[in-house]
Amino acid sequence: MTTEAPTSSSERVADAHDDATAPASTGGGVAASIATSAPEVDSEMDRLDLQNHIWRLTLDGRLHFAPLPDLPQRVLDIGTGTGIWAIEFAQRYPSAEVIGSDLSPIQPDFVPPNCHFEIDDAEDEWVYGQPFQYIHGRTLMNCFKDISTIFAKAYDNLSPGGYFEMQDGCLPFRCADGTLEGTALLEWCTNTLSGSAAVGRTWADPRNYKSIMESVGFVDVTETRLKWPLNTWPKDPKLKELGMWVCEDMRQILPAVKRVYTLALGWDVERADAFIERAQADLRNRRIHAWTDM
Ligand SMILES: C[S@@+](CC[C@H](N)C(=O)[O-])C[C@H]1O[C@@H](n2cnc3c(N)ncnc32)[C@H](O)[C@@H]1O
Repeated sequence: MTTEAPTSSSERVADAHDDATAPASTGGGVAASIATSAPEVDSEMDRLDLQNHIWRLTLDGRLHFAPLPDLPQRVLDIGTGTGIWAIEFAQRYPSAEVIGSDLSPIQPDFVPPNCHFEIDDAEDEWVYGQPFQYIHGRTLMNCFKDISTIFAKAYDNLSPGGYFEMQDGCLPFRCADGTLEGTALLEWCTNTLSGSAAVGRTWADPRNYKSIMESVGFVDVTETRLKWPLNTWPKDPKLKELGMWVCEDMRQILPAVKRVYTLALGWDVERADAFIERAQADLRNRRIHAWTDM
């Protein structure tokens, strides 16, 4: 399935079930990184590692969907965060030379010999010297001014036949039975999207990634849609477990946008705190059957 374009790409989101009792075959991660959360804060680093656990649970231990060769070579993980995905990839594929890049130096010192980290702004020119076989990015939907420029850089930095894969979450949250309507939780999504846009960090919509990838030259783009229930409301045991972890992840994410509310929406701190408290209560409410599309 290749065309003249030198690279092919793989962008996955997840298979979805749109009924209220079984929101997804696997859970959807959400708003991982809010524009205002500082990754170097210990609690945020712990949250990123929690989120890595959620992804592993979601994907049954898989680290990628792209059909990589048995012995992958050069691999880049953009916005690597604590580097946990890059480290696990390097351990699983000793043949690979894995580079994790991030704005923040929050990666550990003791890592596999085939993994290293670089402090880079992915929005700057990429100067990696040699092309990559595989470029990966996860939960980066609110990191860039214009995500299409990042996709174009990925395209330019892949060797022929290489793969680019993004795994990201969508806002607003969704629901199939109306129980999300009128909640502070849904309003949190609307406010976060408008506030982030107002501070110049428009939340990218992963549902557009496929067409953006194609617009910068990728071919054979595959999209997989998944869902993450927001708490333990599903009956399915795996989804229930996923919902438990997603609820904890979201409990930490909801207040992370407070500065967006005070700076961009002009709210005072008391109003923002009270609103986030209401959204937190909705998050814990098992009668609200919401999920995030991933
Ligand atoms: C939500 S975290 C995701 C971390 C990691 N991909 C994961 O899934 O565990 C987003 C990361 O992107 C990084 N980031 C944000 N803007 C960036 C940029 N312009 N260039 C490089 N990294 C960036 C942040 O520092 C943060 O570590």
